[in-house]
Amino acid sequence: MGFPARSSENLGDVTILDEKHFRILKDLGYELGPDTMTNEYWKKRGADALAITTQDRDVYGCIDHTVGEGVAIFDIEGTEYIDVTGGVAVRAFGLRYKPYLEFEASILDVVKELPGMDFDAIPQTLLAEKVASLPPGDHKRQVTFTTSGGRAVEGCMKSAMDLSGKQRFVAFRPAFHGRTGYALSLTSTNWKHKSGFPQGVDVIRIYYPYCYRCPYGQNVEDCNIECAEALRFALEVEGTDIAATVMEPICGEGGLIVPPAKAVKAIYEISKEFGAYFMSDEVQAGMGRTGKWCAVENHGVIPDYVSMAKALGGGYPMGASIGPSPMFSEASRHSETFSAEPKMSLLSLWIIRHIETEGYLKKNAENGAYLLTRLNELVDKHEVVGDARGIGLMTGVEIIKDEKSKAKAPKLRDKILKNAVNSQKLWILGCGQNSIRMTPSYIITREQIDSAVERLDNAIKASS
Ligand SMILES: Cc1ncc(COP(=O)(O)O)c(C=O)c1O
Repeated sequence: MGFPARSSENLGDVTILDEKHFRILKDLGYELGPDTMTNEYWKKRGADALAITTQDRDVYGCIDHTVGEGVAIFDIEGTEYIDVTGGVAVRAFGLRYKPYLEFEASILDVVKELPGMDFDAIPQTLLAEKVASLPPGDHKRQVTFTTSGGRAVEGCMKSAMDLSGKQRFVAFRPAFHGRTGYALSLTSTNWKHKSGFPQGVDVIRIYYPYCYRCPYGQNVEDCNIECAEALRFALEVEGTDIAATVMEPICGEGGLIVPPAKAVKAIYEISKEFGAYFMSDEVQAGMGRTGKWCAVENHGVIPDYVSMAKALGGGYPMGASIGPSPMFSEASRHSETFSAEPKMSLLSLWIIRHIETEGYLKKNAENGAYLLTRLNELVDKHEVVGDARGIGLMTGVEIIKDEKSKAKAPKLRDKILKNAVNSQKLWILGCGQNSIRMTPSYIITREQIDSAVERLDNAIKASS
């Protein structure tokens, strides 16, 4: 009943939703005929049933959940794509990574229904010790686990408020820290997430250090880091009762912006001068993606707090709030029922160990540098590619109208994305108002990087 076998660049013959998977759905009460196996059909059902998706159904098809390997993903019509989103920075080792699957199979008998933080269990404690050792600096740390990035941020925020007795935060524009609760108060990338929803906490907001479009009209080579001085000014006039400054070490959703180390250091130092904690939101950039466990290490800063998620779970929902020890003024101030259950904790321990033993920090730094070199060729080649930037495997390009005006070109960016996905079969995401990002899985090869850049190049050519 499934689709006939199709030839694939990476996988040989594959069958999209084969008999077995049709049967699984049938056993669950869904009798699906081959006539339902179109992107349009499932996009329509998705649009009716789901109130959540943030991606554009005009561009992306319905992903097949039964096939794929490494960076090769398929939609349910059998079209194969190179995925450079890495599952939005979630899949550290891509799809169906054999060593990971083998480890997962070996722990099938582990009790997995134990809620994490309500009781002690060995995997959770070991993972807490391990995760606490990842950020730079050797001060003693504690950890609370969670099941999302936003709540990893919120665990840190709660701790910073509890320990400091202060309730206000410094955050940036643009910035993305989550779509719920306290984390949403820090976010400023998309009015649709924010407008009409009250602020959970009071936030003082300053510009993110964005050298390609310095809001203060300066050049990074000889600037006096006005962006950091803006923080001093804000605190002087708005008040210094700040629990923490919360910063993405690379601004991800907001446009793949890499701040200069001197600005991050100065923002850190001014925060300290006024008695605030400094928190690095590593949900997207962390877990070795940039060649360091925490991307903020690239800026030479030792944060008080670190939020982690995405690649920490490698596909399962796992997040961690890491803070100074003791993290709360007394016990039982914070926890989450389903966090760090044993199986997921073991999988996260495996991911961290595998990154260590297989040298992925070095590989990510080197492959990322190669990717950035290739993206810089697109800057040289196309007037509409204004800038290429990134650290390690967190990279992007900014799309502009022309070199002289550097005016943002959001419509052109959207057209390039559509061409990239629909014609070039490159599964890729936008970010910010006019940027395109690549956050591929760590197992991406140089050949796949070349192929991805070539596809993006073709999409830009076809769109300009
Ligand atoms: C830097 C950063 N913080 C927080 C989040 C929120 O994570 P989640 O969607 O898991 O709540 C994201 C998600 O993309 C992120 O990139």
